[in-house]
Amino acid sequence: MLDDSQHRLGFGTYSLTGEGGIETMTAAIESGYRHIDTARLYGNEPEVGDAIDRASVDRKDLFVATKIGHFEEPEKTPEYVRSGVEESRERLDVETIDLLYHHWPRRSGEIETVLPVFEELVEAGAVDRIGVSNYTIDDVRRARDLIDVPLYANQVEMHPLLQQHELHAFLRENDIHLVAYSPLAQGTVFDVPELTEIAEKHGTSAATVSLAWLLDKDGVVPIPRSSDVAHARANLDARDLELDREDLDRIESVDDTVRCEDPDWMEW
Ligand SMILES: NC(=O)c1ccc[n+]([C@@H]2O[C@H](COP(=O)([O-])OP(=O)(O)OC[C@H]3O[C@@H](n4cnc5c(N)ncnc54)[C@H](OP(=O)(O)O)[C@@H]3O)[C@@H](O)[C@H]2O)c1
Repeated sequence: MLDDSQHRLGFGTYSLTGEGGIETMTAAIESGYRHIDTARLYGNEPEVGDAIDRASVDRKDLFVATKIGHFEEPEKTPEYVRSGVEESRERLDVETIDLLYHHWPRRSGEIETVLPVFEELVEAGAVDRIGVSNYTIDDVRRARDLIDVPLYANQVEMHPLLQQHELHAFLRENDIHLVAYSPLAQGTVFDVPELTEIAEKHGTSAATVSLAWLLDKDGVVPIPRSSDVAHARANLDARDLELDREDLDRIESVDDTVRCEDPDWMEW
């Protein structure tokens, strides 16, 4: 599914809440986004469900991803995961969650507790695919050894300021998609001269350049967020922007040590 051109550029929904959030997400779907990314933690699954309901696009054409297991949530027992995912399905008003992520591998032993429950949920038909998020290469190896259902995606931060070469190569070798969160480095891409100059050359924005660079990479699926419908529409232009070799080399030369999401207990 995520290889389909329709799902290759997803829509991030962090902080899109209330009636304004529903309107933005509905407009994003109407504009062409078919892959919507939310999480239990974002507190907006009901709004995502309303936007899916309001938009004039069939549910079967949409790819709906959510997450459970953020570090701020309580102890992740199997019962917590089962009832949490049931709540997500009800809030999103979907029979099946297309992709369910384990949000952060917070405590030791958490991977071993959470993923077997995900496998159970796939067997029961509540979830179609299993994803992980913020997993290192070692975490992915542990996860893979634990369950029989293949891992479909690892959602991690990736943009020109954090290029993730090693993790991307490992995930490709193992046929796992890399879903790129904060693909605009939460707005920082606008401050990078290499990106603004390439944007000027192509008559576009640094956001579009960053997204086109991600889309150029095998198996990478960016999920930009915007609360501004014009921005959300403009970001879709990245699907048509072809960067040349010189542009790509220039982006690869950018200093890539900026991490927007970096809790102090996480060892990358
Ligand atoms: N798995 C995880 O742990 C994790 C962590 C972080 C994020 N995520 C997911 O990834 C999604 C995206 O990441 P993000 O929200 O951190 O950041 P992002 O998509 O990198 O950047 C969002 C920022 O860029 C601005 N923006 C977007 N398009 C623009 C444009 N064309 N021109 C000017 N400004 C533009 C937005 O402002 P406007 O609203 O004004 O457009 C917003 O301030 C999230 O919504 C969430 O779904 C997941």
